[in-house]
Amino acid sequence: MEFLSSEQLTNIRNSVDIVEVISKYIPLSPKGKNYFGICPFHDDHSPSLSVSKQKQIYTCFVCGASGTVFKFIQDYENVSFKQAVKIVADYAGINVNLGNIKSRVEPNQQLYDIYDISTKFYQNNINTSEGKQAKKYLYDRQITEDIIKEFQIGLALKNADLLLELLTKKNFSKEDMIKSGLIIKRKGGYADIFYNRIMFPLYDLKGRIVGYSGRIYNNETDSKYVNTMETEIFKKGELLYNYHRAKEEARTKNQIIIVEGFMDAIRLYSVGIKNVIATMGTAVTRTQANLIKRMAKNVILCFDGDEAGAKATFSCSNELSLIDVTPKIVRLEEDLDPDEYIKKYGKEKFLYKIDNPMNVMDFKLSYLKKGKDFNNNIEKADYINSVINELNKIDDEILKELTINKISEESGLNIDLLKSKLIESKKEEKKEIEQKKAETKKTTKYEKAQMYLLFYMLRNMSVIKTYEKRVTYIPIEKYRKLAYEISYFYKKNNLNKIDEAEFLTYLSLENEKMLTTVGEINSLNLKEECTTEEIDDYVNVINEFNIKNECKELRSKMNEESDQNNKKQLLQRIIDLRKEN
Ligand code: UTP
Ligand code: MN
Repeated sequence: MEFLSSEQLTNIRNSVDIVEVISKYIPLSPKGKNYFGICPFHDDHSPSLSVSKQKQIYTCFVCGASGTVFKFIQDYENVSFKQAVKIVADYAGINVNLGNIKSRVEPNQQLYDIYDISTKFYQNNINTSEGKQAKKYLYDRQITEDIIKEFQIGLALKNADLLLELLTKKNFSKEDMIKSGLIIKRKGGYADIFYNRIMFPLYDLKGRIVGYSGRIYNNETDSKYVNTMETEIFKKGELLYNYHRAKEEARTKNQIIIVEGFMDAIRLYSVGIKNVIATMGTAVTRTQANLIKRMAKNVILCFDGDEAGAKATFSCSNELSLIDVTPKIVRLEEDLDPDEYIKKYGKEKFLYKIDNPMNVMDFKLSYLKKGKDFNNNIEKADYINSVINELNKIDDEILKELTINKISEESGLNIDLLKSKLIESKKEEKKEIEQKKAETKKTTKYEKAQMYLLFYMLRNMSVIKTYEKRVTYIPIEKYRKLAYEISYFYKKNNLNKIDEAEFLTYLSLENEKMLTTVGEINSLNLKEECTTEEIDDYVNVINEFNIKNECKELRSKMNEESDQNNKKQLLQRIIDLRKEN
């Protein structure tokens, strides 16, 4: 641990109560010894996140998310470990000077550096005489000098080798240049991917520049935007444009406005509506939906006013409703997008629309009805069926009742008929879910023994001792590694009492991935105490499995062996092994 000593970390961790800290983010309620809340790390419907006051750790019984208060902040706020420590220290009122402290080496540092340098380069270009036309284009779109600065907008010039030249001069390797997604290998050499475009930096959740969207401004024939392809640091489906700027404001207002284009986000932000993010024109992924869910309770979809925008609104609402987020909908007239709407009608009128959104069901009804001819029975039935399909997705009984009344009026169909149809289709859905559940695989007794042993190794010193004495090999790699770490950790620190929080802190520093395994094990929902017999049982099952495997190997060796003497020896070893068990 380079940046703070483990004593300092423990000190920071112990000066807060994990229950209090997590309560700042999600509501927790006490149940037995622990506190429970809706897990923010997966699509959770009932409280699966358990927080232990006594152990100062959290575990989700469903997705296996697990760790100390540091890990929670890290994942919830999407910050580095170091930043998480800082946040916790702030809660505790402890001063940590992270300025002088060296952070852990970021494996993709070179790529971030390339983005820093290229952004400065592009920003400089737009301020030269060659940038005049681009500036004029932006000014014409009411993108002011302030906005250009704030959003770090720049320009890639016409020559397609300028960035290449600069990066070469700065001694970046060709490999890193290509990895960054800004340079491409061509026959006979290398070239810039972006040229002759206005460059809009794209940021990751922490606000680091990790990609660009380059817009045409003087050439009508080319595609409007070119985006950085997926790289190690740029995963389009995992980020949301303007997330890092909007986060605070969304939290204070408890409202987040979602638009399609990043130009729309820039417009809203620059007129002072700062709780805005953009999906950048693609379907919302589950990761993004979960991010949105964590930003604020009130989610408003304000996509483009055209048909494509309505379609995107529909599918985005559905993705959100899968994780129990019910958005409110704003539709803009005249096919306008938010940017155009604000420019045409002003901020106040736009805000009025945001303050008076539609509920999602009303939007869906009008969306599904659009263009349908009710004199045509097939189209009418089609409409009714798709509404029933939508009603199935919601739990709100009152809204269901109201909607049924509404479509009964519209279609002239009997209310009871509609209701029975709803029940019928719900049954079918249930059947499908049951089927899926049955298909998930069963765990073998060998896997179970390894998992159960680990469960108690995390809780009981004497189980660790038994493991050290009696288990030579745990077959499944991730469990083997975890068992090894547990044993190593307590030996190294000379601890003779279980301290799970301390152990998890150690893992988050040394082997963060293993926390998932810990989570998986902790979510087993076994009783806390165990008997010696039970532990012996697990150990025996594991050893039996190893012996079986070894015998199998020996037998196949024996079969291939032609020398009679060797054959005999192998057989003897098999017999000995069998006796051992
Ligand atoms: P829009 O076409 O609605 O963008 O696409 P916009 O904000 O109105 O753009 P302007 O005003 O014409 O400049 C929405 C989003 O889809 C992505 C971009 O991220 C854009 O913000 N997009 C659009 C592309 O990636 N490529 C394209 O060719 C078009
Ligand atoms: Mn648009």
